[in-house]
Amino acid sequence: MFSSFYTLLAVLPFTGVFAGQIPVIDGVLGGVSSSANLVRPQILKSAATTPGKLRVVENSGICETTPGVGQVSGYGDLTATESIWFWFFESRKNPATAPLALWFNGGPGSSSMIGLLQEHGPCRITNDSSSVTLNPFSWNNEANVLYIDQPVGVGFSHGDLKVGTSQQAAADIWSFMQIFLSDSRFTKYQKNNLAIWTESYGGHYGPTFAAHFLAQNAAISAGTVSGIPLNLKFLGVGDGLTDPLTQYPGYIAYAASNPYHPLVSSSVISRANTSWTSSTGCKSQITKCNNGGTNSVCSAAQSFCNNNILSPLAGNFDVYYVPTANPDPYPADITSYLNKMASKIGAESTWKETNNNVYSNFAATGDWMRNSRPDLETVINAGVRTIVFDGDADYILNFVGVEAMVDALNTKFSATFKQQQFQTYTVAGQSAGQFKNAGTFSYVRIYGAGHEVPAYKFGNLAVGQAAAQMFTQIMANQSLTST
Ligand SMILES: *[C@@H]1O[C@H](CO)[C@@H](O)[C@H](O)[C@H]1NC(C)=O
Ligand SMILES: *[C@@H]1O[C@H](CO)[C@@H](O)[C@H](O)[C@H]1NC(C)=O
Ligand SMILES: *[C@@H]1O[C@H](CO)[C@@H](O)[C@H](O)[C@H]1NC(C)=O
Repeated sequence: MFSSFYTLLAVLPFTGVFAGQIPVIDGVLGGVSSSANLVRPQILKSAATTPGKLRVVENSGICETTPGVGQVSGYGDLTATESIWFWFFESRKNPATAPLALWFNGGPGSSSMIGLLQEHGPCRITNDSSSVTLNPFSWNNEANVLYIDQPVGVGFSHGDLKVGTSQQAAADIWSFMQIFLSDSRFTKYQKNNLAIWTESYGGHYGPTFAAHFLAQNAAISAGTVSGIPLNLKFLGVGDGLTDPLTQYPGYIAYAASNPYHPLVSSSVISRANTSWTSSTGCKSQITKCNNGGTNSVCSAAQSFCNNNILSPLAGNFDVYYVPTANPDPYPADITSYLNKMASKIGAESTWKETNNNVYSNFAATGDWMRNSRPDLETVINAGVRTIVFDGDADYILNFVGVEAMVDALNTKFSATFKQQQFQTYTVAGQSAGQFKNAGTFSYVRIYGAGHEVPAYKFGNLAVGQAAAQMFTQIMANQSLTST
């Protein structure tokens, strides 16, 4: 029997139509199912794969229509049965010297076409999903940008589903980059500065991939691995899940108090708080997971915490943008557009936003609850300029939790960071957020932005304008500066 109206409300929103990067499993946001429930992506034609090589379409004319700006889309075949989809856009300015940015959406199991078409690509989906418009604040204004669907099985990528941890995903992306940078079209970018930008589950992917790239570079130098060193200089993590133990109390605090409105009643808050603090509760389960916990311990922690804390505390609001009721129709769905364009860009499978089998493989290892903060610390201490950012209207990876994670960082810049006061981040003279810099680390909270930060606008600024300023400054190896 339901003990209150709010209990009912808390469960209902996730049973209907719901489009987002993080799957809803048996009515639970980020839940854990005992049975896999979706099919693998369908192969449209029997793909003649070329292991260790790219298969591409050049200059399809889709999305980026700026004259003279090149693009390449297609597959990097890790093996005969593991194909990674990518879509590369040249920088609109100075592509030969501009840095190369890799982009990864989260899930786990969600496609990076989300970032391309809903957030910061050369074109963005229209609100009726029928077409795209050129994006004046595209991240390829200043950088060569490579959107990658990973792991295998996600988005247009297809093949054997072998990946169930961020570490396994990192190894595949390192291999993909070896293939990409060996291709004659792209060898010239081996020397350019390289960046990883990511969001959401990217709070795990970003630090893990970056730390793996650095470790492989060291192994190449030591002669124990052969390969192309990856010239990693920048890391950007938006609205990310990095350190669950530090971040989960943020759900309770944000649901109770945020810049918009409380998400649930005080009785729901209080029940979630008990689920956090009780001796067998979420805090204790994540702690066990982080102290050498087995996959089943970590998976059980994910199930418990998301059933009892993450999911119920969202109430009736869109978890990716709390000012609106769930589900917010914005940003518009990109499925029909992508499947309409698939053959023109060289894609071979039916695109879906999320592959729930990939998600299930991660849920089975409990990767969700493992701590990626040590990798983030390694990367920051290694001199990779790093920014963590968060939209203040996002619940699912809210700024309260992310700022607690940032405050918990133990790096050579952390003492300085703690001494800094937040400053207003202005863009074209308008207030757009608040930020801190310390050494080559920065953090910014962006006002009015939901989970997909570059998809939103604030005040009189245009959609994506604040995010573009942040991206441009970091990619120029600068600290954040108000303009
Ligand atoms: C699309 O919808 C968003 C959210 O409602 C709105 O802010 C934006 O102005 C709309 N875009 C256009 C071109 O109407
Ligand atoms: C959560 O419970 C703890 C321990 O009982 C208490 O100190 C804290 O104030 C509670 N927080 C909320 C938001 O209810
Ligand atoms: C970026 O700036 C930092 C600190 O100012 C410097 O140490 C580093 O070498 C620079 N990196 C690049 C790629 O220019």
